[in-house]
Order: sequence, then structure tokens, then C-alpha cells
Amino acid sequence: MEFRHLGRSGLMVSEISYGNWITHGSQVEEDAARECVRTALDEGVTTFDTADVYAGTRAEEVLGRALKGVRRESLEIFTKVFWPTGPGHNDRGLSRKHIVESVNGSLRRLQTDYVDLYQAHRFDVETPLEETLRAFDDLVRQGKVLYVGVSEWTADQIARALKIADEMGFDRIVSNQPQYSMLWRVIEAEVVPLCEKEGVGQVVFSPIAQGVLTGKYLPGQPAPAGSRATHEAGAGFISRMMDDDVLRRVQDLKPLAADHGLTMAQLAVAWVLQNPNVSSAIVGASRPDQVRDNVKAAGVKLDAETLRRIDDVLAPVIERDPARTISPTRRP
Ligand SMILES: NC(=O)c1ccc[n+]([C@@H]2O[C@H](COP(=O)([O-])OP(=O)(O)OC[C@H]3O[C@@H](n4cnc5c(N)ncnc54)[C@H](OP(=O)(O)O)[C@@H]3O)[C@@H](O)[C@H]2O)c1
Repeated sequence: MEFRHLGRSGLMVSEISYGNWITHGSQVEEDAARECVRTALDEGVTTFDTADVYAGTRAEEVLGRALKGVRRESLEIFTKVFWPTGPGHNDRGLSRKHIVESVNGSLRRLQTDYVDLYQAHRFDVETPLEETLRAFDDLVRQGKVLYVGVSEWTADQIARALKIADEMGFDRIVSNQPQYSMLWRVIEAEVVPLCEKEGVGQVVFSPIAQGVLTGKYLPGQPAPAGSRATHEAGAGFISRMMDDDVLRRVQDLKPLAADHGLTMAQLAVAWVLQNPNVSSAIVGASRPDQVRDNVKAAGVKLDAETLRRIDDVLAPVIERDPARTISPTRRP
């Protein structure tokens, strides 16, 4: 495993993190979840990403049990707040009330006294940014949270948060967690240039496009049994990527991966890690062999010619529009 700083902070994170969206507490049984975590640890992964909302809060519980007994100082545990975790009007968003209640729930479920990174899972248009940032800062002072970050925020939203933090003397956000892959490059135009300047690192999600970039989904054919596209918790999310033109072009990447002695998943994860503003790539996995496959992307260098060939193959299906970075226009 290789390690990078989380943005300009002093915290080191593994280049490849393991995340448990869709899988823990939902798609996969607890035994498989525990095996994936165990394999990630064995392969040198130290950074684990979850969220209060995943599997209706069960994902944090599963991760907490799977990490029990592991030396806390050897781990970086990331979680998030924003999406609904209960039926009430305050069980969502980034108000002081929900942030305080949610972090306490997360700490209990994760069986830890603090999380290393606490992330605003989206931007909340119904809470003053000052209120959110002060609540985050209070959690840092209380030692419940060591660093704060955001997820899927626009460049403008990140810039506003940094300005308020500087004016009010709050801890600055150190990271953003956006979707980023060969197919989804919407952060490159605005978010990355700002974050490079400001020392904010990207902790990117869905680097394998939820499995699409492994090439296992074939155009015009049913999805393989047991894959995310066949599971009720994941099918809706992955369907956005399951376009035949996309799947055909992904097949055309296979010779290129083979030329480099890489699996398709390794090529996909290595690709996002070529961006120096990326602090870590969060991979998901429903089976331990996927973890073992994906972690081998750490430290892989792709030359300019390879990157150009990837662009040539995928060009018409790459999404680059920064306007695709979206938070709900009302609280969910
Ligand atoms: N902040 C946010 O809003 C947000 C949103 C989404 C995700 N995330 C974070 O990012 C993490 C990763 O997201 P993701 O799960 O979409 O990432 P991903 O790594 O792009 O996709 C993971 C899925 O692809 C399949 N896969 C992975 N490696 C494979 C391999 N080597 N061979 C074959 N299939 C493979 C597995 O699904 P199957 O085996 O089921 O096919 C696996 O669960 C999440 O767990 C979460 O922590 C954050």
C-alpha cells in the first residue's frame, strides 16, 4: 500500500480506501462483509469510509463490529452526515441539532470515541453555512471528530466554506468526496483547480463506476448473477452507467489493461490516482477477491500515452460538465 496526505493536512490515508455503501448491512451478509474488511486490512488498507445513512445506519454497525479489536491508531475512519436517518424533520440536513445527534449515533455504532474525518454528505440549502461549520468546529474541539470535509460540493460551495472558516477561525475543511472515474470527470474543471490551490484533497468515490469499469457488464446481455446491477439496493444507482455505448467502449479498454499487466479494475483505480489532488480512491467490494484485485492499483504509474489512449476510447461517453455536481434543492 502507498499513503498520501489528506489534502494539506498532516493526516496520512491509504491511497486505496475501503467503503461499505450498498454492501454492508444490505447486499452482502455479515460474514462476507467481515472478510472484505479483514482482507483490506491484510492488504494494507488503513482508511475506511461509511455514512450514517448507509443501509439505514446498519452499515456503520457492521463496520464497527468488523474493526473491533483493531488498534485504533492504525485506522482512519470516515463517516458522513446529511441524508435522512429517521422519520423526523430534524433527522436530516446539516443543522447543529442533526449534526450533534448524528455524530453521537455514528460513534456508538462504530464503537469508537472519535472519527478521523466527518463529512457533510451534501450541501444543505436550508441551513446557514456558518451554523454547520461552527457545529463541525465544536465537534473538533470536543475531540469527537479530528478533521472535517464535504462530499459532492461545488467549487463555489467549497470556496464559501473556506472563506467563512478563515473569517471565523474555524477548522478548514481538508477534503471533498466526489464521484470520479474515467467516465465521470466533472470535478476536473472547477473543483480540482480550487482545491489544489486551497489544500483540499479529493477522496473519490465509485472509481470503478460501481463495477462498470471492470468490463464484466457486456452490452446487450443480462448482468452477471450476484452483481450490483442485479441487486435491489444497487440496481437503481448503477443503471445510470449501464448504457450500451458505454459498455461497448469499456470492452475496448481490455487490450490496453492487458498491455500493462493490469486487470480492468486496477486500471480504473490507478487512473484516478494519477490525479495528484486525489488523496485516496474509495473502492467498494462485495467479495474479498475484489479487494485483493483493487488494492494492487496502489503505486501504479500510467504514462501520458496510456492516458491518451484511454481518452480516445471513451471520449464520447465521458461526463465533464461541472453542473453535474448536485445537492438537493430542498432537504430530502
Ligand atoms: N459520498 C457519496 O455520496 C458516495 C456515493 C457513493 C459511494 N461513496 C463511497 O465510495 C465507496 C465506493 O463506491 P462504489 O462501491 O460505488 O465504488 P466502486 O469501487 O466503483 O464499485 C464497487 C463495486 O464494484 C464491483 N467491483 C469492485 N471491484 C471489483 C472487481 N475487482 N471485480 C469485479 N467487480 C468489482 C462490486 O460490486 P458487485 O460485486 O456487486 O458487482 C463492488 O461493490 C462507497 O462504499 C462509499 O464509501 C460515497
